[in-house]
Amino acid sequence: EKGEYRHFMQKEIFEQPAAIQRTLQDRIDSPDAVSAAFGEPAMAIFDRVRSVQIVACGTSYHAGMVARYWLEALAGIPCQVEVASEFRYRQHVVPEGTLFVTISQSGETADTLAALRDTDSDNYVGRLAICNVDGSSLVRESELTFLTKAGPEIGVASTKAFTTQLAGLLMLVLALGRRHGLGDERIEQILAELRQLPNLLEQATALDKPIEDLSRAFVEKHHTLFLGRGVQFPVAMEGALKLKEISYIHAEAYPAGELKHGPLALVDKEMPVVAVAPNDDLLEKLKSNLQEVRARGGELYLFADKNAKVADGEGIHVLHLPAVPEIIAPIVYTVPLQLLSYHVAVLRGTDVDQPRNLAKSVTVE
Ligand code: F6R
Repeated sequence: EKGEYRHFMQKEIFEQPAAIQRTLQDRIDSPDAVSAAFGEPAMAIFDRVRSVQIVACGTSYHAGMVARYWLEALAGIPCQVEVASEFRYRQHVVPEGTLFVTISQSGETADTLAALRDTDSDNYVGRLAICNVDGSSLVRESELTFLTKAGPEIGVASTKAFTTQLAGLLMLVLALGRRHGLGDERIEQILAELRQLPNLLEQATALDKPIEDLSRAFVEKHHTLFLGRGVQFPVAMEGALKLKEISYIHAEAYPAGELKHGPLALVDKEMPVVAVAPNDDLLEKLKSNLQEVRARGGELYLFADKNAKVADGEGIHVLHLPAVPEIIAPIVYTVPLQLLSYHVAVLRGTDVDQPRNLAKSVTVE
C-alpha cells in the first residue's frame, strides 16, 4: 500500500535506502562474503571468466551500461552490453570464457529470457541472472543468481529495482576483480563505500523539495537534453528514460562530449539541459561543454557535488549533492533524476504509476 505517499513511484523512490540496505545485508562483510552472495557454483565459474556479456532491456540495460564502466576500470575484464532484442537477433561472436549476465526486475521480460535460452555456445562459462523476483523464469533458468531485494515494485517506471541492480553489479565487479588482480585493500575500501550508500541515498531523497521547485521549469517544455560523461552517461540515459515515460516530455541523453557533433544545434532557450556533474576527473571537461550550452541560451540544470565549484548564475541552476565517493556516485545521482521526473509528471497531471501504453512486465516481444 502507498501509505503516506501519493504514488507508488514516489514511495519506491523513498524506499531506496532500505532496499539497498536489504540487498547488501550480510553480503558485504568481507571480500569472501561478496563472492559467496552469487552462490556456491560461482566460485568455480568466476575463476574462468575472461569476458562478460550483459543483456537486458530498458532501465535494466542502463544498469548494465554502468556495470561496464566499473568492470573494465576496476577488474580489467572486457565487457559488452546490449539490449536483448538486438542481441538475440544479431549474429554475434562469443569470446572464450564469457560470463553471460542478464539483468531484470521481473525476470519475465520476453527478449531477455529468449536471449538467455539462446546461449548454447561452449564459450560461455556460466549464466548469471541479477533479478528482483525469486522463482521467476530468468532465475529458474540460470545457474547463478543474485537476487536484488528491492521488494515488490508496483510503479511501472523502475526506480528501486535499478539502484539495487547497480549495488549487485558492483558486488559482481568486486567478486570478478578479486580474481583479476583487484587487491583486497581496494575491495575493502569499496565495501566501506557501499556501506555508506543507505545514508547517502537518504541524503539524496532529502533534496525532494528543492527538486520539486526546479521541476516547475520543465512543465511547459517539449524537449529536454540530459548530459553526463563516463559512468554518468548511462545515469543521464536513465534520467531521460524516466522523464519520457512518466511525463511524456521528449528527452534524450548524450555523452557531453558528443554535444558539438550534432545535438548542440537543438539548444536554445526552449531546450532545458540537465547535467550530472559529480566531482570527478571529467568535471573540467564537462564544464566547458556546459559553457557551449549557455552560449546558445540553453537553461542549465546541474546536479553537482557540493565541492564541485559550480555555482548558480544567469541561466545556471545548481542542485548540490553531498560529497559521494566516485565509484558509488552513479547510484546516488540516479535519485535526484528520478525525483525530477516524478515532480514534472505530477505537475503535468499524468498517470505516474501507470503511464499510457506501457506495461510493468513485457512478456511478449
Ligand atoms: C523503465 C522500465 C522498463 C524496464 C524494462 C525491463 O522504467 O521499467 O524499461 O526496465 O521493461 O524490465 P525488466 O527489468 O523487468 O526485465
